[in-house]
Amino acid sequence: MRKASSDSGSEYIATGVVIIIYSVLLLSSSVNAVSNYNSLVQKIWGLSKIFGSRALVLNVKDYGAVGDGVQDDTQVLEDVWNMACSSKVESRIIIPVTSYCLVGPISFGGPCHSKVTLTISGAIVAPSSPDDWNGSNTQKWLYFHNVDRLTVEGRGMIDGMGHEWWARSCKINPENPCRHAPTAITFHRCNNLVVKNLLIVNGQKMQAAFTTCDGVKVSHLSVFAPGGSPNTDGIHISASTNVRVEDSTVRTGDDCISIVSNSSKVQVRRIACGPGHGISIGSLGKSGTCDQVYDVSVRGAFLSNTENGLRIKTWQGGSGFVRNVKFEDVWMENVSNPIIIDQYYCDSKKQCPNKTEAINVHDISFVNVKGTVATKEAIIFACSDVIPCEGLYLEDVELVSASDDIATSFCWDALGSSSGTVYPPACFSTSGSLINETILSNISHIQDV
Ligand SMILES: *[C@@H]1O[C@H](CO)[C@@H](O)[C@H](O)[C@H]1NC(C)=O
Ligand SMILES: *[C@@H]1O[C@H](CO)[C@@H](O)[C@H](O)[C@H]1NC(C)=O
Ligand SMILES: *[C@@H]1O[C@H](CO)[C@@H](O)[C@H](O)[C@H]1NC(C)=O
Ligand SMILES: *[C@@H]1O[C@H](CO)[C@@H](O)[C@H](O)[C@H]1NC(C)=O
Ligand SMILES: *[C@@H]1O[C@H](CO)[C@@H](O)[C@H](O)[C@H]1NC(C)=O
Repeated sequence: MRKASSDSGSEYIATGVVIIIYSVLLLSSSVNAVSNYNSLVQKIWGLSKIFGSRALVLNVKDYGAVGDGVQDDTQVLEDVWNMACSSKVESRIIIPVTSYCLVGPISFGGPCHSKVTLTISGAIVAPSSPDDWNGSNTQKWLYFHNVDRLTVEGRGMIDGMGHEWWARSCKINPENPCRHAPTAITFHRCNNLVVKNLLIVNGQKMQAAFTTCDGVKVSHLSVFAPGGSPNTDGIHISASTNVRVEDSTVRTGDDCISIVSNSSKVQVRRIACGPGHGISIGSLGKSGTCDQVYDVSVRGAFLSNTENGLRIKTWQGGSGFVRNVKFEDVWMENVSNPIIIDQYYCDSKKQCPNKTEAINVHDISFVNVKGTVATKEAIIFACSDVIPCEGLYLEDVELVSASDDIATSFCWDALGSSSGTVYPPACFSTSGSLINETILSNISHIQDV
């Protein structure tokens, strides 16, 4: 469905320019034409670059986008995407500063011929009512998939208009039927992806999801949804590897950052979070799945008024592991459950039955984590009876009550060690084989990925 010749117009113009320049240069150097041949080629090549023949620029306004936030621009964005994606030269789609493009669900599919950049300087906005979705797929709103070398940037805004979706959620009103709300922006199988300088507001459910991607760099992203909005994870990383999220702010109703499924080599740097549910690994192992999460490093985070701080949550009955996770340089302000590993996670109305399988959680460290706590239990390690947590490590942890209470630690089948000041004091098991594990597993296992 792509228009293969869509970029030929600009290529012709560029070629014409190059031919004219070539003629001028040829005339001016007629005598020593041969000896000057090499430098001539270089000049032409340089000029063609200056004239920009190497990139196709597509301003949505030029292709019929109304951009008034009222009339539907879905078709225009689809068409422009198809032109960009099939372009033989690198392309840039521009939503200019004055354009406010109302669009329904869109699939931005690859593979694309060349690198594509989507520059959102204006806004992309969703229909305000779920009724306007006309029964179309409600799992995803903006869906980028199978694209290599995509950049999304532009200092503009993506507005999911989530309020009506939240009002109809069964989590907000139990009388409502439970049904899916869409993820605002999904990147699936996108490799070498860059997302930067963007504002995402009021996504209907998850705000930005990265699934099965290899090579993702997110920076200067702001994600804002109300603290009471249901299931609105800010940055969701699933089955992805080589992911770096830095210099970003998330205020939302669910996890600020969630890392799930088989994800690895995830680096999080300088993140502000709150309100929200903190930085979470999991939930993992639901319905007996095998999940393997490893090499996760969070360095530099400010969490304020969040419902959890640094959390690992697994369901009973799953298999796989979480290993080599390091949280460091984290400042907390009035956070509930600042440090928590919960292997009895159960997000259902019925009590979950105890199972004999569990995800193996080991080599997890918390270094230089300080601040104030809203709950009494500042450190909770509720680990599996079947496979205890091993290699837990606390160093320079100081969590004091925000309300003059005494902060405490809770340990269940948790093996580990600590150094430096640790308050509330660590409560690791020190009996039998547990001591062995404690000594063997220490910080040297955990490298900065
Ligand atoms: C839904 O259908 C109405 C009427 O057919 C149309 O005007 C509107 O653009 C559609 N909305 C979406 C998001 O497709
Ligand atoms: C994770 O990887 C393991 C091992 O490759 C595989 O068995 C499992 O199915 C994967 N899990 C998911 C949820 O994809
Ligand atoms: C601290 O957090 C608790 C629990 O979320 C909340 O009730 C309280 O208002 C917060 N205090 C401040 C000073 O924000
Ligand atoms: C499951 O195990 C935990 C810890 O051993 C115990 O406290 C809890 O009562 C058990 N739950 C059920 C439903 O058996
Ligand atoms: C404890 O350590 C000793 C010596 O390192 C080793 O021989 C023994 O097998 C360990 N025991 C357990 C239960 O791991």
